[in-house]
Amino acid sequence: MIHVAVLGYGTVGSGVLEVFRMNQEKIDRCAGDQVRIKYILDLRDFPGDPAQELIVHDFEQIINDESIDIVVEVMGGLEPAYTFVKRSLEAGKNVVTSNKALVAAHGSELLQTAKEHHVNYLFEASVGGGIPIIRPLVSSLTADEIEEITGILNGTTNYMMTKMFYEGADYDEVLREAQANGYAERNPEADVEGRDACRKIAILSSIVSGRQVDFEDIYTEGITKITAQDMRYAKEMNMVIKLLATMKQEDGTIGAIVAPFLLHSEHPLASVHGVFNAIFVRGNALGDSMFYGSGAGKMPTASAVTADIVEAARYQDRTICEYWSGNKMELKSRMDVKR
Ligand code: HSE
Repeated sequence: MIHVAVLGYGTVGSGVLEVFRMNQEKIDRCAGDQVRIKYILDLRDFPGDPAQELIVHDFEQIINDESIDIVVEVMGGLEPAYTFVKRSLEAGKNVVTSNKALVAAHGSELLQTAKEHHVNYLFEASVGGGIPIIRPLVSSLTADEIEEITGILNGTTNYMMTKMFYEGADYDEVLREAQANGYAERNPEADVEGRDACRKIAILSSIVSGRQVDFEDIYTEGITKITAQDMRYAKEMNMVIKLLATMKQEDGTIGAIVAPFLLHSEHPLASVHGVFNAIFVRGNALGDSMFYGSGAGKMPTASAVTADIVEAARYQDRTICEYWSGNKMELKSRMDVKR
């Protein structure tokens, strides 16, 4: 049995438990073993919540429990997340995270620590929420030199800009509405000033180049200066304005920028609306491809975190053949398949 400890019972942490409840059998089958959540670390108690019996308040209980194979850090922020992740890796425990701030700031060092201790440090959910992008870059796309990645990597600002474009609303009005609907946070600076997208493109650039790309080095401009009038002008030119995070690689050098860009309405990224994210990737052999989906939110992010838990569980037992070794699956007749 594989034992998991989840650090943080917030939106993503509770989502991970929900994914386990929904899909336990599938998770076990793909992991090649039973995967069970043994602890949830949180300062709070949750009376009446079925997860309460797993709640612990002291990280020492987790780090000192040799049965814990995988630590899931979904607390966010740099500290104490950094210390907990570092100590978990040094103790020989795999770590899975959705914490883009930590990956962007210390990814290179933490991957090195993981390597030294023969464990995984996996962070699929840190970029694009539920959209698979990290693993494709490190597995399916390894034959290519990646020449360009351009993404709509922030759901909050894409939601706001979609409203501004289609409804002619101005920035302040849309921000207030997005906050009232829970799309934008009370302190929306990280999203509207482009810092969230900047950390995400820094992570992707680091993976593509194989070297740490510091987010502080990336020119970043948010959407705070975009007006309803800018949107009208863009529409008249048959264009849209999108907050893009883009990196280009040429002759071993990398350039990256986060800023609002004018895009022709026929560009594939121009039709990505609302809270959705999309990531356009150009490889020198593959050509163009695009990854699209839910870039934020409880269940999409929890889906990516849980898939990393399965990956960590599978990797330590090398059970990949069990993933696809069952008997023939009898398909329903076409008429029986629900639409
Ligand atoms: N604030 C982020 C967004 C959450 O709006 O995309 C997901 O990283």
